[in-house]
Amino acid sequence: MLRKGFLSALIGILAGFMFLAVSQVMAQDDEDYPQEPIIFTKPVKAVIFDHKYHIEQGLDCDSCHDDPFEMAAGTAEENEDFNMKALYQGKYCGTCHDGESAFASNTRCTLCHIGVKGYNRLMGKSEGGHEHH
Ligand code: HEC
Ligand code: HEC
Ligand code: HEC
Repeated sequence: MLRKGFLSALIGILAGFMFLAVSQVMAQDDEDYPQEPIIFTKPVKAVIFDHKYHIEQGLDCDSCHDDPFEMAAGTAEENEDFNMKALYQGKYCGTCHDGESAFASNTRCTLCHIGVKGYNRLMGKSEGGHEHH
């Protein structure tokens, strides 16, 4: 009897640990978005996208993943139509940046476009400095 009680207690503890582990993995799915901004450099250098800011607007992962964006930085940049025309047509960032859900893509250029200087600043390089390619 004693032994049986010990075993079921042990099983209970193990199950508890498994539950904790599983719920941690699931919480990670919900919260583990990139903490640093993603910087696009193609076709122009450079455009900033900040997960933190967008999540704080109340957007969930589903509103961007996997449509219009894959969960892999650099994917959109592979597409030839990753440009302003597509945004104006409601693709990519233009899904929301259409003047209704968020400021329109044909306004406030410099909120998205941080330019070469902004890029260098974020990458910790001195302006006009000696870049290594
Ligand atoms: C407003 C849009 C938006 C929302 C909301 C959003 N993401 Fe993203 N996410 C992006 C964009 C844009 C990229 C870059 C895609 C690309 O380069 O093609 C990206 C990329 C990623 C990447 C890949 C990073 C890398 O370095 O490869 C991960 C992981 C990710 N997102 C997780 C999440 C999670 C988790 C959530 C929800 C908590 C979330 N995202 C919400 C737009 C969004
Ligand atoms: C799912 C909707 C959605 C998508 C997709 C989206 N945004 Fe946003 N974005 C918002 C909302 C909502 C705001 C805040 C409202 C506003 O500023 O009009 C915002 C604000 C911003 C801001 C202003 C940040 C600030 O500091 O004021 C920038 C910059 C920005 N987005 C860039 C991007 C870029 C670049 C992309 C595409 C890679 C993108 N967003 C895709 C919804 C979106
Ligand atoms: C909501 C974010 C956002 C806003 C606002 C925005 N852009 Fe863009 N822009 C992008 C993204 C994303 C790309 C593609 C990625 C890259 O080139 O780094 C891009 C690319 C471009 C390009 C190169 C591709 C092309 O279409 O020729 C030009 C030029 C450009 N933008 C000009 C502008 C001007 C001018 C404005 C203001 C009238 C503006 N953008 C406003 C996000 C934005």
